[in-house]
Amino acid sequence: MSTSDPFTSAPADRRVFRPTVLDLGDVRLRPWGRALDITGGVVPALVAAAADPEIAHWNPLNTADPAAAEAYLDRCDARWADGSSAAFAITDAADGTLLGNAYLQWNNRADGVVMVGYWLLAAARGRGLATRATTAVTRWAVDTADARRIELYHFVDNDRSCRVAVRAGFPYEGTLRASYRRAGGDYTDEHLHARLATDPFTDHPGPA
Ligand SMILES: CC(C)(COP(=O)(O)OP(=O)(O)OC[C@H]1O[C@@H](n2cnc3c(N)ncnc32)[C@H](O)[C@@H]1OP(=O)(O)O)[C@@H](O)C(=O)NCCC(=O)NCCS
Repeated sequence: MSTSDPFTSAPADRRVFRPTVLDLGDVRLRPWGRALDITGGVVPALVAAAADPEIAHWNPLNTADPAAAEAYLDRCDARWADGSSAAFAITDAADGTLLGNAYLQWNNRADGVVMVGYWLLAAARGRGLATRATTAVTRWAVDTADARRIELYHFVDNDRSCRVAVRAGFPYEGTLRASYRRAGGDYTDEHLHARLATDPFTDHPGPA
């Protein structure tokens, strides 16, 4: 039996995201899915996240009501099952509450190109968590799924996300004109940042 994918020079079983818990000490990154245990309930947490004004503006979620949240969790389970994307809930290690999200998906699996994204709930912002989570999932994708190039996109006017990208070691590469449609709005420009698997990682300190 062949173990090679005819469309890639890499072994077919390398570029697969496998369900994993990433333990960062004070926070844990846990796979989104129906079985995820979040304090207060995973579905209410997703509905509340979608209603957050900053998230709705910069990173609109398709989880505005319980049925949509359940459908999202089903999609996460399916994508973990086939290894095509990796969506992690960022949770407080002490009390199990939801803090945010960090996710990866293949842009070009054969070439090892991955996209990374993130959002944080209001109470979790401003303490370096997005930078730490982005670094952790990126390093995991390089180490376990043979990610070769990791790309990060944000709206040109999302300055906070731009700073996260640079802090996490993703230099700015260029501006993509009219590349993404805002919810119910016009097409807008995005910044592209990226890092390579060969770029050195920097450890970001957690809370003292
Ligand atoms: C974008 C978003 C994730 C950034 O969150 P954040 O909390 O600012 O980012 P970080 O977790 O990296 O924290 C960085 C901030 O914490 C501060 N900070 C405190 N301790 C820190 C530490 N140990 N390391 C790094 N930063 C630290 C920094 O000063 C920094 O402030 P600054 O952004 O004003 O320079 C968040 O604002 C958000 O979820 N917004 C809505 C959704 C969104 O925009 N998603 C991204 C779409 S592309």
